[in-house]
Amino acid sequence: MDKFIIEGGKPLRGSLEVGGAKNCALPVLFATLLAPKKHVVGNVPRLHDMESTLKMLVHFGCSVDQRHSRAYGSDWIVDAAGLNTSEAPYDLVRKMRASFLSLGPLLVRRGQARVSLPGGCAIGARPVDLHLMALEKLGARIEQKSGYVEAKLPQGRDRLKGTTVIFPLVSVGATENLVMAATLAEGTTVIENAAKEPEIRDLCESLISMGARIQGHGSSKILVEGVPELGAMNFRIPPDRIEAATYLIGAQLTGGDVTVKGANAEDLGVVLDYLEQTGAKVTRSAEGVRVESSPVVKPVDVVTAPFPGFPTDVQAQWMALMTIADGDSVVTETIFENRFMHVPELRRMGAQLDVVGSSVRIKGRPRCLEGAPVMATDLRASACLILAGLGAKGETSVKRIYHLDRGYESMENKLQSLGAQVERSADT
Ligand code: UD1
Repeated sequence: MDKFIIEGGKPLRGSLEVGGAKNCALPVLFATLLAPKKHVVGNVPRLHDMESTLKMLVHFGCSVDQRHSRAYGSDWIVDAAGLNTSEAPYDLVRKMRASFLSLGPLLVRRGQARVSLPGGCAIGARPVDLHLMALEKLGARIEQKSGYVEAKLPQGRDRLKGTTVIFPLVSVGATENLVMAATLAEGTTVIENAAKEPEIRDLCESLISMGARIQGHGSSKILVEGVPELGAMNFRIPPDRIEAATYLIGAQLTGGDVTVKGANAEDLGVVLDYLEQTGAKVTRSAEGVRVESSPVVKPVDVVTAPFPGFPTDVQAQWMALMTIADGDSVVTETIFENRFMHVPELRRMGAQLDVVGSSVRIKGRPRCLEGAPVMATDLRASACLILAGLGAKGETSVKRIYHLDRGYESMENKLQSLGAQVERSADT
């Protein structure tokens, strides 16, 4: 197991490119299962979650050729012609929840699917009832047996049947599973209260490159007109907005000046607006997004919400910033019930935090953080602790960095390129 050793107090300065978006690459790669073709997916980030996805695709009978022509990211050629199983076993799904996104594509391509239930995870229970409800609405027959979801097409039919599906709450994954399944259904599927996250818009664009007929993606009402078959995908994964947000928050937290080249300011939405409210100067241009820090960080409350609200995946990083603000703030988490595992670790570094239900009251104090040994508990909590370490006096060691490697490509190299003193070392 690796750890990061950080000598804090060096401002992040310079420009960098972030990798392809993890949460876009995952559904897009599972979407390749929809057609027995050779698909080209460019700019796939090199992350542990992508290695898990590769194992899944190979398990399903696909062959995958990865081309590494640049320092970061890879282009994948996925040949899905050899798909020969409808089962996603527990051992593969438990390592990565997003594997459940194979359910919709496997069902409509093979007529049946058997996918392990993913179970809970560190940040919450994360049920899959909405995924199942949506597929059942289109006529799928679904049973849960021995920890697996078994799905079949309607009796006597070889396609699902389009209809209107109204989600009672916004789910990114359930919207993705439904959109993918609906592309090959008979007739039109109307999805109401669909997730509006940029990753949904991008998944739909990748499906359109295969010949899918989709409208309204990016809004809360998506229309999918089913087609009998799809062709080859040709799609490039856009930059990761969560990774970009992490470095931009890092700029303000360390008193630095960072440009994320290629970052899409619209996708970063309220995160940039709130950074401005903390006093930072934010420049949105064709080149990307630049954050120039302010001498004083003003406290700003945030409440997580589905897009275009404040992303839950940036909540932990924001909390790190608020610990050094000049005054008190409140961070409220509304998406996941157990997403404050970074709180006790931040306290070890001198932060003053009170958990009250689903909110954390932060007594911000400039220069309050002191280096300490801390432990990462999930992906975004790891990023939070690294940012805190960069802004702290003295040395911080962040253990269990494998969580970070699920979602941030070569973070230590990127931080070093911005002037940070960070080393990865084996944790004995
Ligand atoms: C995706 C992202 C994750 C992000 C989250 C919210 C990927 C691979 N992961 O996760 O990084 O934090 O969106 O933006 O893209 N829910 C149900 N029933 C369901 C499905 C979800 O009750 O069937 C609940 C969840 O427990 C949660 C909320 O809905 O409270 C939102 O979850 P969802 O949007 O589905 O998150 P994921 O797709 O798992």
